[in-house]
Amino acid sequence: MTKSTTSKDQEGTMTHLDFFKKFKRLNPLEPSLAILGFFLVTLLFISCFYYLDYHTVARGITWLNLYGPLSSSTSAAAAAAANLSVSLDFLDEAGDVCDIFDGNWVWDESYPLYQSQDCPFLDGGFRCTENGRPDSFYTMWRWQPKDCNLPRFVAGKMLEKLRNRRVVFVGDSIGRNQWESLLCMLSSAVPNKTSIYEVNGNPITKHSGFLVFKFVDFNCTVEYYRSPFLVVQGRAPAGSPKKVKVTLKVDKIDWISNKWRDADVLILNAGHWWNYGKTIREGCYFQEGEEVKMNMSVESAYQRSLETVMDWISSQVNMSKTYVLFRTYSTVHFRGGDWNSGGGCHLETLPDFGSLPVSDSDNHFKILYDVLTERSNKPQVMKLDLLKVTNMTLWRKDGHASVYYLGPETGPASLSRQDCSHWCLPGVPDSWNELLYALLLKRESFGRRNSTKPSQPPS
Ligand SMILES: *[C@@H]1O[C@H](CO)[C@@H](O)[C@H](O)[C@H]1NC(C)=O
Ligand SMILES: *[C@@H]1O[C@H](CO)[C@@H](O)[C@H](O)[C@H]1NC(C)=O
Ligand SMILES: *[C@@H]1O[C@H](CO)[C@@H](O)[C@H](O)[C@H]1NC(C)=O
Ligand SMILES: *[C@@H]1O[C@H](CO)[C@@H](O)[C@H](O)[C@H]1NC(C)=O
Ligand SMILES: *[C@@H]1O[C@H](CO)[C@@H](O)[C@H](O)[C@H]1NC(C)=O
Ligand SMILES: *[C@@H]1O[C@H](CO)[C@@H](O)[C@H](O)[C@H]1NC(C)=O
Ligand SMILES: *[C@@H]1O[C@H](CO)[C@@H](O)[C@H](O)[C@H]1NC(C)=O
Repeated sequence: MTKSTTSKDQEGTMTHLDFFKKFKRLNPLEPSLAILGFFLVTLLFISCFYYLDYHTVARGITWLNLYGPLSSSTSAAAAAAANLSVSLDFLDEAGDVCDIFDGNWVWDESYPLYQSQDCPFLDGGFRCTENGRPDSFYTMWRWQPKDCNLPRFVAGKMLEKLRNRRVVFVGDSIGRNQWESLLCMLSSAVPNKTSIYEVNGNPITKHSGFLVFKFVDFNCTVEYYRSPFLVVQGRAPAGSPKKVKVTLKVDKIDWISNKWRDADVLILNAGHWWNYGKTIREGCYFQEGEEVKMNMSVESAYQRSLETVMDWISSQVNMSKTYVLFRTYSTVHFRGGDWNSGGGCHLETLPDFGSLPVSDSDNHFKILYDVLTERSNKPQVMKLDLLKVTNMTLWRKDGHASVYYLGPETGPASLSRQDCSHWCLPGVPDSWNELLYALLLKRESFGRRNSTKPSQPPS
């Protein structure tokens, strides 16, 4: 199998090499051919600009996006679209009825909110432009809820809200993706970047256990704890079968949770590691109490772990102090294979338009939803908010790092090793943080009421 992937890849490389060789043959020893070639290429280039005027493309896209998805939707949505803008603000009291996760992506020339070159807090894997990605349309989309407007993100205002507070992201590397996005968004309002630093002096790397960035002028920290399963992963108990290398103790919250508990804002996520390939195939089985459950499926283990997380929230977290959110599964977009078998999203430069693409991640939400439903009698758990990004990310096949996750010196990765899980920054996770910002402001302005709605089922 590996063999066939490699040979397929080589075929691809060969044709590219042939192409380059052809270009190389147009050397100065053949001046007439070279000049003719140059002339043709220039002509093509100019005519491209002539016909593909940037703004025309942009307007076309906006038009498509506003009408495309809604033509198949409800008439209420169509009416809202005919208005072209919605008059209700999410932050108004009446905005309570608005589902901010139901909407679409609209072209907005005031985006992106920052440039990666200006943000020292991004790790190389997300710096797509600097790593050679030539297109930038993917940075220009704003999330527009169908029935209301989100507040425009103002970094200084968010920092003021976070003064003397701790924002804590916990989860897998997509959580780190969102955390770094927030660091960039917030730091855009801080001219003196040396006043923002990691409190232990650690650099941003993929494998750190945790990183705590302090915004000195605001006495605020924005922290990331790597915990892809949220529960304890450790040595298998003595006497376990040989194939059991490690176990996930699905009934025990990660030991480091004592560092999360007192956060002011806590954003949890999980999902990308709850699959066969990252657990059982690697000899990682599931354990409850002292018993390794050799037969437990990944789905039941995931469900069990979410129950553990929710019960921890219920018993350990002071929900009057801590605003807890759970971010739902962020969609991956591998076409024609998986991440390790030549699947890809390379050359995707536009989102999907039209009706919502089919999702293979519904199961993640269903499991989460079932766990929450079981606990709907627990007021603590019902104060939790969901950051329901799954549907909005389904459309964004254009937003991933694809082959542009290696440093500028290394150049693009092989087409058979694409990253269609993580997102380029600036990009899609910025929108999740804009939603977080909106929810925070909403919670502040209605702080005295029971502001957060119970988690709603998918309608
Ligand atoms: C436009 O929006 C306003 C306010 O939301 C609404 O009252 C009106 O019916 C809408 N018009 C159309 C044509 O949908
Ligand atoms: C800074 O914030 C922390 C909470 O994150 C708080 O305990 C501490 O008192 C604050 N320091 C100052 C000087 O306000
Ligand atoms: C920038 O911040 C650092 C750390 O707080 C401080 O030492 C330095 O004086 C600041 N520089 C300016 C120009 O304000
Ligand atoms: C696991 O499943 C197999 C077949 O379904 C069954 O024979 C076995 O007893 C089960 N083991 C445990 C520990 O439940
Ligand atoms: C929970 O937090 C609130 C607000 O910070 C505080 O007033 C209250 O004493 C805390 N409750 C407990 C049990 O710590
Ligand atoms: C908040 O909700 C609780 C129960 O869910 C209720 O007892 C309490 O009165 C509510 N508080 C306010 C201010 O509405
Ligand atoms: C995602 O969209 C589908 C189709 O519109 C809808 O049925 C589902 O409830 C949505 N899921 C969430 C979590 O909003």
